[in-house]
Amino acid sequence: MRHLLTLENMPRAEVGRLLDRAEDFRVRGQQRELLAGRTVLNLFFENSTRTRTSFELAARRLGADVINFDLSRSSTAKGESLLDTLHTLEAMKLDALVVRHGENRTPDWLAEHANSMVSVINAGDGSRAHPTQGLLDALTIRQRRDDFETLRIVICGDVRHSRVARSDVHAFTALGGRDIRLCAPRVLLPEDPDEFPGCAMTEDFDGALADADVVVMLRIQKERMAAALLPADSDYFAQYGLDARRLALAQPNCMVLHPGPINRDVEISSEIADGPQSRILDQVANGVPVRMAVLAELLAR
Ligand code: NCD
Repeated sequence: MRHLLTLENMPRAEVGRLLDRAEDFRVRGQQRELLAGRTVLNLFFENSTRTRTSFELAARRLGADVINFDLSRSSTAKGESLLDTLHTLEAMKLDALVVRHGENRTPDWLAEHANSMVSVINAGDGSRAHPTQGLLDALTIRQRRDDFETLRIVICGDVRHSRVARSDVHAFTALGGRDIRLCAPRVLLPEDPDEFPGCAMTEDFDGALADADVVVMLRIQKERMAAALLPADSDYFAQYGLDARRLALAQPNCMVLHPGPINRDVEISSEIADGPQSRILDQVANGVPVRMAVLAELLAR
């Protein structure tokens, strides 16, 4: 594997191996000799807290040098094309380019146009894929339940615009997940159901939650939609917000995930986000060893 662009069609064994490796890094901590002398560049065209920081920590804990490319101070701001930026950065002998971009498939485009052996890692492209998030969500679930075949998983919120939902579905189905329910108001359900093969779709959150083992809540991505599509925050919470009454419809130990950033009282109440069933901070913690596993897999010789 040279690049990580999507989890779509990734075989079960490969997903499992990455998760095993991540679990190993989580337990054993840093291994600074593994990528000593290698260089990782974070190229983020969209904002990020968790993903960028954890890629940086992951690279450092493997001994790599890390550069955070500051777009606002770069020649991109002077109009340099993406292709020229790519070839300029490659001339400095990078080993990995961690890319986040608002346009679908920009990481694939960079991988195709690279002149060097640089590895491209997708840190989120448009609504298409966020493979390391899919892996870390799968790891967070697997740490408590590894019977994906029997899990009932609900993904609720802005599914249409969510690269997290797409990569989660790819990871969960690769691991054997069969009962995945996508839930949202109609305008936020996927336009093309073929993008989510095998998933059920519903506008009824209460119904979807019945006996759920896992519920993944998604942020309303206002930056990716026309204002007209947006329900008012309070109306949205009344129908699709996760609060204590709703969570009681699920299995008693149902895990609650959210990729962050959370909008409190828009998609989730603070009581639930900070409560005993929340795995949100486990997800954040797992982000580092998952990204260590990906970097090690792609770069270690
Ligand atoms: C997500 C993203 O940017 O795709 N956040 C993240 O990476 N943890 C989800 C979001 O922004 O809602």
